[in-house]
Amino acid sequence: MDDLRDKYIDLIANAGDEASLEDLRVQAVGKKGEISLKMRELGKMTPEERQIMGPKLNALKDEINTALSAKKEALADAALNERLKSEWLDVTLPARDARVGTIHPVSQVIEEVTTIFADMGFSVAEGPQIDTDFYNFDALNIPGHHPARAEMDTFYMHRAEGDNRPPHVLRTHTSPVQIRHMEKHGAPCRIIAPGRVYRADYDQTHTPMFHQVEGLAIDKDISMANLKWVLEEFFAAFFEVKGIKTRFRASHFPFTEPSAEVDIQCSWEDGQLKIGEGDGWLEVLGSGMVHPKVLQAAGVNPDEWQGFAFGMGIDRIAMLKYGIPDLRAFFDSDLRWLRHYGFASLDVPTLHGGLSR
Ligand code: PHE
Repeated sequence: MDDLRDKYIDLIANAGDEASLEDLRVQAVGKKGEISLKMRELGKMTPEERQIMGPKLNALKDEINTALSAKKEALADAALNERLKSEWLDVTLPARDARVGTIHPVSQVIEEVTTIFADMGFSVAEGPQIDTDFYNFDALNIPGHHPARAEMDTFYMHRAEGDNRPPHVLRTHTSPVQIRHMEKHGAPCRIIAPGRVYRADYDQTHTPMFHQVEGLAIDKDISMANLKWVLEEFFAAFFEVKGIKTRFRASHFPFTEPSAEVDIQCSWEDGQLKIGEGDGWLEVLGSGMVHPKVLQAAGVNPDEWQGFAFGMGIDRIAMLKYGIPDLRAFFDSDLRWLRHYGFASLDVPTLHGGLSR
């Protein structure tokens, strides 16, 4: 019996894992285990023998069971320690660099533009990117035969035969938001409408999808002078150049009369573009006094109300402000480009904190 005891105590002490320990348990005290078989032999013994062997065997069984559960616990502890060691983590290390993702220059510039115009009392309006040709063209005084329709390189939505809903287009400019806003809210109003627009065009300065911000201010006595002041205030704040010069060139849009294209002052020296100095000019937007027919189409009485509108290219002013040479890269989703030109996500532009930290 002592041999049996020594054998199992030794085997248990040397068991390497819980599975081999379980094998030992079956071998020793399982139903057909060595010790269990010995206990069965008790029946064949004389009462005297049984009185000695019975308690001895029971004590042996208890001792083996105790050794088994002690070893089982020790193995579990060791396994846990091993796991804790491999999953060890230093929680005092600095957090991961917060700039793993960045704000796209277009989103940044929309925030900046919104901040500046909000300060002048403009609120933000929105319209659908898929719109009817009525809102994109007719209501803006661009009838079906007008060359502007062709010039805009419009994407038309597919129409199944027999579909008699009005034709839909991907909006070619943000000007339809003028109509939708006045239809719903009437006059007076003072809004900007930033968003995506679409034209079938692709080269270094054109992509089929790009961004514009529309401006619209309607009241009893709004004039071109107000337009000029608002835009000059905007450019000075946006480009962070006090007294930046603008040039208004007579132009033509079907939805404004008179119309002007607006340039901002710049210099080109040693291939370096600087905004707000020198005697060069860069075109940045179209504008004018809202055409009476446009007011009428939107349900606003042109004998009572008047005002200005403008449409500015967001990607273009982003390229100018942040020195980004190729428009196409804006929409390539190249992580290296995004990390280079992107903005930290918590640096929300504010007028007091600076627009472009
Ligand atoms: N919608 C014009 C364009 O996309 C810009 C514009 C808007 C001009 C408002 C005048 C007034 O080119």
